[in-house]
Amino acid sequence: MRFLVTGGAGFIGSNYMHYVVNKYPNDYFVCLDALTYAGNYNNIKDLEEKDNYKFVKGDITDKEFIDDLFNKEQFDVVINFAAESHVDNSIKNPGVFLTTNIIGTQVLMDASLKYNVKRYHQVSTDEVYGDLPLDKPELKFREDTPIHTSSPYSSSKAGADLLVGAYHRTYGLPTTISRCSNNYGPYQFPEKLIPVVISKALKNEKIPVYGTGSNVRDWIHVIDHNIGVDLIVRNGRVGEVYNLGGHSERTNLEVVKTILKQMGKSEDLITFVEDRKGHDLRYAIDSTKSEDELGWNRTYTFENGIKETVDWYLNNTEWIDNILSGEYKNAYKD
Ligand SMILES: NC(=O)c1ccc[n+]([C@@H]2O[C@H](COP(=O)([O-])OP(=O)(O)OC[C@H]3O[C@@H](n4cnc5c(N)ncnc54)[C@H](O)[C@@H]3O)[C@@H](O)[C@H]2O)c1
Repeated sequence: MRFLVTGGAGFIGSNYMHYVVNKYPNDYFVCLDALTYAGNYNNIKDLEEKDNYKFVKGDITDKEFIDDLFNKEQFDVVINFAAESHVDNSIKNPGVFLTTNIIGTQVLMDASLKYNVKRYHQVSTDEVYGDLPLDKPELKFREDTPIHTSSPYSSSKAGADLLVGAYHRTYGLPTTISRCSNNYGPYQFPEKLIPVVISKALKNEKIPVYGTGSNVRDWIHVIDHNIGVDLIVRNGRVGEVYNLGGHSERTNLEVVKTILKQMGKSEDLITFVEDRKGHDLRYAIDSTKSEDELGWNRTYTFENGIKETVDWYLNNTEWIDNILSGEYKNAYKD
C-alpha cells in the first residue's frame, strides 16, 4: 500500500515514520512536511537510505501542490499529523492554527476524495473534549463526550474533526479519527513541558511552571500513540473515533519533580509563573473502545517511559543544542 504521512518531521510524526518504515518494508511511505519552526529534518534524516520511503517538502494548505502530489503518487492511505500544535502560540496567533489545522485538513480530504484514497486518518487530540474537574477522578473522556474546547488550538483541532465527520457522512470519504492524550518521548520540540524542563535543568536555568502546577495530564509514550494510530488505520472501522490514553494521570508539578530527581537537580529550579489563559484543569482518557476493538494497550508505564525519555535527551544534547541555536533549520537541503 502507498501511504502519505503529513507532519512527519515533527515530534509524533517522525516517531511514526521510524515505526512504520521499519515495520512494513513492503509498504511505501511518502513523508510530507512544510518544515515550519516545529519541523526538524534531523528527526528523519536517517530514513533517507530506505527504499520504501521518500521525503517531500510542502504545505498541506497548498491546493495545487497537494493535487499534483496525489495525482503522481496515487496514495491508498493518508495520515494527517501535520498541525500547528502549541497551545501558547495559538493564544498569541490563532490565524495560522485555523489555516493549517482546518483548511489543511480540507485540502487533504478534497484530494483524498478526488483520487479515491481508501482511508483518510485524522490525528486529533483529547483537548477537543475540553477539561474535567480535579475533584471527580471517576470522570474520563469517552468518544461520545461532547466537544467543548478551550483554546484556539483545541478549537481548530475540533473544527477539523467535525469536518472529517462531515466528509465521511456527506461524501462517503472512508475516515477514522484518533484522539490521544499528552505525548512524551524522543524528538519533542523544546517548547513543550518535558523537553523544556530537561533543556533548562541541563543549564541550571529556572524552570517555569504555570500557576501552581496542579493541572493534570494523562501522559502516554509516543510509541504507544503510534502503535494505536497504526492499528486504527489498518483495522479500525470507517467513520469511527478512537481514544488513546496513557492511564498515567500526573500533575505538571509531579512530572517536573520526577524529571529533576532523575537528573539529580534541585527542585529550587522550579519557578511558578502566571497561569496560561483558559488553562484546562484535567484531561483523562477512557481508551476502552480501542482496547476492546483493536486489542490496543499501552506498553509503557509512565515510570519506565519517562526514565527512558530523560535518558534519550541526556544522550542527545546535540539534538537540543541544534534547535536552540537554530542550526536545525539547515538540516534539509533541496
Ligand atoms: N503532542 C501531543 O501531545 C499531542 C497529543 C495528541 C494529539 N496531537 C496531535 O498530533 C499531531 C502531531 O503533533 P506533534 O506534537 O508531533 O506536533 P509538532 O508541532 O511537533 O509537529 C507538527 C509538524 O507538522 C508540520 N507542519 C505544520 N504546518 C504544516 C503545513 N501547513 N503543511 C505541512 N506540514 C506542516 C511541522 O513542520 C511539524 O513537522 C498534531 O496533529 C497534534 O494536534 C499531539
